[in-house]
Order: sequence, then structure tokens, then C-alpha cells
Amino acid sequence: MAAFKELVFSGVQPTGNLHLGNYLGAIKRFVEMQARDAQCLYCVVDMHAITLWQDPEALRGQIREVTAAFLAAGIDPKKSIVFNQSQVPQHAELAWIFNCVARLGWLNRMTQFKDKAGKDRENASIGLYDYPVLMAADILAYRATHVPVGEDQKQHLELTRDIAQKFNTDFGDSIRAHGHGDGFFPLTEPLIGGPAARVMSLRDGSKKMSKSDPSDNSRINLTDDSDLIAQKVRKAKTDPDALPSETEGLKGRPEADNLVGIFAALSETTREAVLQQYGGAQFSAFKGALVDLAVEKLAPINAEMKRLSADPAHIDAVLADGAERAEAIAAPTLDAVKDIVGFVRRGPRLSAVG
Ligand code: TRP
Repeated sequence: MAAFKELVFSGVQPTGNLHLGNYLGAIKRFVEMQARDAQCLYCVVDMHAITLWQDPEALRGQIREVTAAFLAAGIDPKKSIVFNQSQVPQHAELAWIFNCVARLGWLNRMTQFKDKAGKDRENASIGLYDYPVLMAADILAYRATHVPVGEDQKQHLELTRDIAQKFNTDFGDSIRAHGHGDGFFPLTEPLIGGPAARVMSLRDGSKKMSKSDPSDNSRINLTDDSDLIAQKVRKAKTDPDALPSETEGLKGRPEADNLVGIFAALSETTREAVLQQYGGAQFSAFKGALVDLAVEKLAPINAEMKRLSADPAHIDAVLADGAERAEAIAAPTLDAVKDIVGFVRRGPRLSAVG
């Protein structure tokens, strides 16, 4: 592998209905990362998906659909490594070792588990509880330095750092004895931000845009065609005032803030720049401009996803190639981890970790 300065890793769950929040908060940013001096790995996290029950046939389709969205949005599978998690066994292997490093007390603090498990915690899967440990394994199997994620994943990234740190100290002597210096795992940096780090519902500016919202008008799906996109933007909730000319004026106006944030992210500028242009405008005029922009940016992605979805064999070939290249990075990491932990293993398979 060529020597890159950074290693970027991120994952998206194949749980159906990719929407504008997934695109602006994650996938679009993955595309931008490709311009950095970095090896980028983008993973469809199917093992995370089954922490909640998934219909098998639907899951298979959703894995291919997320892959198609990655490619349609501009992730280059030659440059970046695009794959699905379950094809690379090192994720699960490392997760087990991390299960023995992470503490119950740490997992008990995870707010996403509390949200997803709801009231009936006793009936949640153990996988749902362990989800953040598998996520740490995803990241650290590649010793990733940077992880672009949405705001809601911040706590999981902190846990990943805690696991890396505890592994580095618990096994410090062994890590040094095996020639890895003072730390084996990096303390991975989350990359959170941009104007659309949190895209909110089009019907309620205080709720996140979500695939599980009962109202389809609350979100723009990546599978929506131009007419539907236009209709949903026009129906989006607003308030009666004109747009302010400074971001200060968006305070206490969540719907206005959300639409301005979406406009800024789609046009790759800032809220400030958008308000310089549209300050004083009525929503009817601003929504017209937002419809044009959203259709211009999203319709080609939609069309390309449709084209790719007609050829699942091509998608599967991309995933197989990505899995092979991912495993070539993760396997030597796991060999080194097994040596550090004190396991006996078969001889060196692949080149040693530097
Ligand atoms: N938990 C992430 C989400 O729901 C998905 C994910 C799984 C992920 N493994 C990851 C993101 C590793 C970044 C890095 O958005």
C-alpha cells in the first residue's frame, strides 16, 4: 500500500431509506475526503444493521443500495476502498478482544443504546448493547486516524479512543516488546461539522431527519425523483417571517435554520454566504431557489443509483474487490494484536505491521 499521511474510515448502516441527512452529513463528506492525502475506507456496516432484526432479502438489497449510493455520489472505488463489513472477518475478531478491554460502565453510558432499546431494555439484543465496541473494532482494525461522522456519533468515537488508550496501557510492555513503540492504536480524531452536520426533519425543525419518521414528507430520500423533491421542499414547514441577513437571526427559528443549512451544504458555502444573498427574501422565493439547487445536485445521483442498481453483479464485484483490499490492511493488524495479547497463531500470513 502506498504511504498515506492519514487513514480515513467511516461506515453507513444498510437499514433502508438513505436520505438527505445521510448524504449531506456523511456520504458527501466521504467524497470530499478523497482529495486529502489519505487512504479512505468506506464500509457498509451490515453487522451493525442486524443489531435490530432485518428481513434477509431486504438487507441484501439495502447493502447493494448503500454501495450504489456511495458510487453514485462520487466515491471512486479504485481510489477508496468500498466494502461491506461482514466480508472482512477481522472486524468481529477484534471486537471480541475489545469486549475484554471495554468496561460495562462505559457501555452503560451510551445514549444511543438507551434511545434504540427504548423502554424494554431487557428485550434488546446483546449486539445492540455491544454496537459501540464493534464500531471501535471497525475503526481500529485499520488504525484509522480520522473518522468523518455525524454529530450523533461523537460519544461512540470517544469510546473508541478510550478502548485504544486502555489497550495501549494494559498491554504497554508487550507492545514495546513486539517493537511497536509506546502505543499500538492511534487516538482517532472524529471529523464532525460542516453546515449540515445535523439535517432536521422538513416537518419539524426540532427533530432529526430520520428514515423512521412516519411522514415521508419529513425527509428527502436519495431515491426520490425531481418532482417529489420539489414537492417536499415546497411543503417544508417554515415560519411567516422573511429570511434574516445574518446567522444571528436564525436563532429560535429551527425550520429556517435547517433550510439555510441544507442550501449551504448543497452549494458548498456557509450559512453566512447564503444569507448574504437571500437575507430579506420571502420563503416562497428561497424555496424556489432551493428546489432548483436540490434537483440539480440530487437528480444525477438518483439517476446513477438507478443505473447501478440494475447491475447487482457489478456492485458485488466492487464489494469483493474492496473486501480483499481491506483485509490486506486489517489482517496484519490482527496478527500483531494477537501477538501483543499473547495468543499462539499460525505463521505470518501477510507482511508484518510497520
Ligand atoms: N454507528 C454509525 C452510524 O450509525 C455507523 C458506523 C459503524 C460507523 N461503524 C462505524 C461510523 C465506524 C464510523 C466509523 O452512523
